This record gives sequence, structure tokens and C-alpha cells, in this order.
Amino acid sequence: MKRKSIFVCQICGAKSPKWLGKCPSCGTWDSYLEEQIEIGTKGLSKVKTTKVRTYKLSEIETGGEFRLITKIQELDRVLGGGIIPGSIILIGGDPGIGKSTLMLQMCKGLEKFNPLYITGEESLEQIKYRSQRISGIPQDLMIVAETNIEQIEYVIKSSESNIVIVDSIQSVYSDKIESTPGSIAQVRECATLLMQTAKQTGKAIFIIGHVTKEGIIAGPKILEHTVDTVLQFEGEKIYSYRILRAIKNRFGSTNEIGIFEMTDSGLREVTNPSEIFLGSRNDNASGIAIAAAIEGSRPILIEVQTLVSQSGYAVPQRIANGYDNRRLNMILAVLEKKLGEKFRMQDVFLNLAGGLYISDPAIDLGIAISLISSLRDKPVDKKTVFIGEIGLTGEVRAVSQIEQRVKEAEKLGFSRCVLPAKSFNKLPDNLKIKTIPVERISLALAELF
Ligand code: TYD
Ligand code: MG
Repeated sequence: MKRKSIFVCQICGAKSPKWLGKCPSCGTWDSYLEEQIEIGTKGLSKVKTTKVRTYKLSEIETGGEFRLITKIQELDRVLGGGIIPGSIILIGGDPGIGKSTLMLQMCKGLEKFNPLYITGEESLEQIKYRSQRISGIPQDLMIVAETNIEQIEYVIKSSESNIVIVDSIQSVYSDKIESTPGSIAQVRECATLLMQTAKQTGKAIFIIGHVTKEGIIAGPKILEHTVDTVLQFEGEKIYSYRILRAIKNRFGSTNEIGIFEMTDSGLREVTNPSEIFLGSRNDNASGIAIAAAIEGSRPILIEVQTLVSQSGYAVPQRIANGYDNRRLNMILAVLEKKLGEKFRMQDVFLNLAGGLYISDPAIDLGIAISLISSLRDKPVDKKTVFIGEIGLTGEVRAVSQIEQRVKEAEKLGFSRCVLPAKSFNKLPDNLKIKTIPVERISLALAELF
């Protein structure tokens, strides 16, 4: 075996024989690190092959779909209804967001499957200390402190456990590779070995990976290809809410999100998200409107806050937190051009309560109403919910799942709902909440101010 050194981009895995300042494949600067590879003579000698059996589709037995239920509803739903045996799941997220806590808490509900927690990051004492903060962690939980992946493979294969957690992929290493733990080569080798172990043994393996939103730390892209499911755990440092999102899922939808709150005693499930994202709603301030979004299969009512104020700059600022900045600009352009509202000299700030990011355009109408409320300094009725996407001509466009949205507003005690006229016929007629169908934003405004 001969060794050769190559340079590998730590972001996308592109290779180059020499060091590069900027990766030509993903455009990242200063991401190339030197790694050693073996160049064997294997390819030159003839590789032995044997007969491989081909199956008819009808001959393949699946044994039905069996899933291990974690009993954390928010997690089970994002997984697609529980854990598939033999699958490999990556939990990514910023350091300190709560990945280890979530995994430890998951062990609670999986007690009868003998979970095994492999820690390469924290000591046994640190895990014990953490478990004391969270109530109900089974005292029989098996914990191993180990970072050598070959050793870990042995432990997994020889254990009784059906669920294994490896915390984290950046801390484990293989003897076969020379580069440091956390490098692309190590991450790839370790993940591949864990993947094979999961498939061979039928045990489900969770891999924790520190993956920032920008994907700065080694391996995210490479891991995404190797694993069955990628869950991203995210949240803003200033809020205690955490969102679990499926980015890839071979066994379920990627639309679902799970919502948690980090408390003094671990993560709490948030089963009624509207209650958080509605904010306090006590004062009668202008610039506040309630919109109804759908995240995954659930409706969420959110408080939209905007502030429109005279700009001191030649080019006014437009800053959206929790919503697409370009969409905010589009809504402003429509209000300006079609309704003659004067935003040109104004700074505009948009905030969604609770730090949630919404991509559902059905909250456009709520945003538009909140903007006009702030511009005119007139509060919006607190008991009204707004639903509708805004088109370039100022029309209020139909949205999906209108009934679910309106019912959520009704359930939470709102008295009126302004919604697209085109969605109106999809509503049942036994609603108690008053519905106001509108075709254009101007008509919604006429109802309000
Ligand atoms: P952790 O699970 O260690 O994050 P990760 O594994 O993603 O790096 O969580 C770390 C943070 O969570 C830490 O700042 C402390 C906080 N925390 C709580 O607020 N309450 C708790 O009960 C626990 C266990 C942690
Ligand atoms: Mg951790």
C-alpha cells in the first residue's frame, strides 16, 4: 500500500491534488485540508466475483412496517411515525441547541428496546449529571464512553440494544484513516461503518452531528447521502423554542416539524404551537396582526409584528425576521403601487413572534394588514385572523387547507376570519366564527379601518 496526500474541501468533499483557496465546486473559501489516502494495488489484480441472486419484486418479503415508538409525539411525527429498525438517522444542529438532551430523553420512552448511548464528547459523569436534570431517565440505560469506531462497532454488535445513539460523529475516528476526527475522510468512514452495522444488525442508529445552518463543520453534505433520515434541530439562542425538522426522510414526509421548549428540566413538547407563537396580545398596539400558517400537517396561528418608521437613510431598510425578505418587499411594492400606500421613505421591520421561520405564503395578508396598521398607527382588532396569499395585482389568492386554518382560529377563540373569496366555498357551513371572504386587499382594508 502506498500513501498519497490529497486536499479535500471540508464542506462539499471535492478533492484536489493541491491546496486551493476557494473551492471550485461549492465556492467556499479556505475549506481545503490535507488528508492522507492509501493507493492500493487492489484495482490492478482481478477482483473475484460470484453469482448474485436476482429477485422478482413479488419474491421479496418485507415483514410489514414495524416502527419503534419513542413516545415523544413531536419526535415520532417528524420521523414519520416512529423509528424504522435498521435505519440510520442523523440529528444535526448547532452546538448547544439540545441534541444530546433530546436523545437522552428519547431513551425514556424506548426503555424496552434497551437503548445504548455511546458518548465520545462528554464523560460518563457529565451524562449522569444531565440525566439528573431530566426526570424519568431509566437507571438501566446503557452508556459507553468510546471514540474508536471499530470498538464502537464491536460494542453495538455484541449488545442487546435495538437502538443506539452515537454522540457525536465529529468525535469518533477510525484507525484506518490518518486524518483527525471530524475531517471529511473520518466522518465519511465512520458513518459508512455505522450504516453497514445498522443494516447488518437491524438496530436503529442515531448519529448526532454538529451542523451549523451554514454547514461549516465537516460532513453535512456527505452524511446526508449516507443516512436514511436527516433531522435538523434548530432555534434562536434568545428564545427557548426548538424546532425539529426533517430535511430528508426515506420513511416519511419532510414537511413535518416538531416543536419543543428547552426548560430547566429538559425539553418539553409543545403540542399546541399556536399558544406560543401568538405572543401576549394584551396591549392594543398598532402593527400587530394574527395570521394562520400551516407547518407540516398542523395549523399554527402566529402573531405578525411590523414596525414602519420614517427612514433616516437614502435607501430605507427592509428587514424580515422569520419570513422571506424578498416576499416582504413584494408585499410592500403591491401596497405601494396598487393601494397607493406610501412606504417609500419608511424603514420596515417584520418579526414573527417566538422566532419561528414561516415559508407559507398564506400569511401574506396578515403581514400586509399589519404593515398598514403600523403605517397608519391604528391597531387591528385583536379577535380577527387573516388568511391569504397576495398576488402582484393586489388580489387575495386562494390557499391550501383553509378549513384547518379557520378551525384553529375558531378553536382558539377568535371571532372573525378574513380569508380569500376563492377558498370560501371549501369551508363547511357549521362554523361559529364569522368569515369574511375578500377578493382584494383593498376590500379587506375597507372591512377594518
Ligand atoms: P445539549 O443537549 O448539550 O446540546 P447539544 O448536544 O446540541 O450540544 O444542550 C445544551 C444546552 O441546553 C445547554 O446550554 C444547557 C441547556 N439545558 C437546559 O437548559 N435544560 C436542561 O435540562 C438541559 C439538560 C440542558
Ligand atoms: Mg451534545
